[in-house]
Amino acid sequence: MPMDLNKTLQSVPVVPLVQADDPKVAVLTSRALAAGGLTVAEVVFRTDRALECLQAVAEEVPEMIAGAGTVLSPGQARAAIKAGARFIVSPGLDDGVVAVAKEHGIPVYPGIVTPSELQHAFNLGLEVVKFFPASLAGGVPMLKAFSSVFRSMRFMPTGGISAGNLAEYLAVPAVLACGGSWLTPAAAIFTGDYAQVTTLAIDAVKIAAQARRDGK
Ligand code: 3PG
Repeated sequence: MPMDLNKTLQSVPVVPLVQADDPKVAVLTSRALAAGGLTVAEVVFRTDRALECLQAVAEEVPEMIAGAGTVLSPGQARAAIKAGARFIVSPGLDDGVVAVAKEHGIPVYPGIVTPSELQHAFNLGLEVVKFFPASLAGGVPMLKAFSSVFRSMRFMPTGGISAGNLAEYLAVPAVLACGGSWLTPAAAIFTGDYAQVTTLAIDAVKIAAQARRDGK
């Protein structure tokens, strides 16, 4: 039975990005995030060894639900699923990527930024989309405008989200979760300061819990 990732995201509504070109670093980063309470992460396809990184996290960090992020093509989606991706995230909306994920019965969150893309996603049967790049594409007011028309659609904004504006995004009822790289700063990872990653995760979990309480 496929897991209900959307249900998990409802209670852990923050999806950090894991970007690494060394599987060991991806594993340590993922463990640090999970230790802070963030148990869903995107391993992004932005390095030559991203696929190995994803596979290592999928195999060695059972406490993490690892998906593939920055998936640009159906071929990449297939490779990611073979490597153990539990979900797929794309910056844009591509029918082929969506089809591969559906064929394998795994969640897919393609990026949208216009009403036409959103309508297309709706007609592909998608219930949750990424909104990227959120801060440049209209932020919270744009999400409110979208959700007044696409009333059943849920959103995962990413791009420009930080501890400073996370609560504001999560206060929008249509926002299922927020994603971002602020939880995995390159400088901390470069110096092996994984404790900082855990601290950032703990802070995000607190902000999210408060935002969800305020929203009730
Ligand atoms: C993504 O792929 O979701 C974005 O690159 C995240 O944007 P951020 O780096 O501003 O968090």
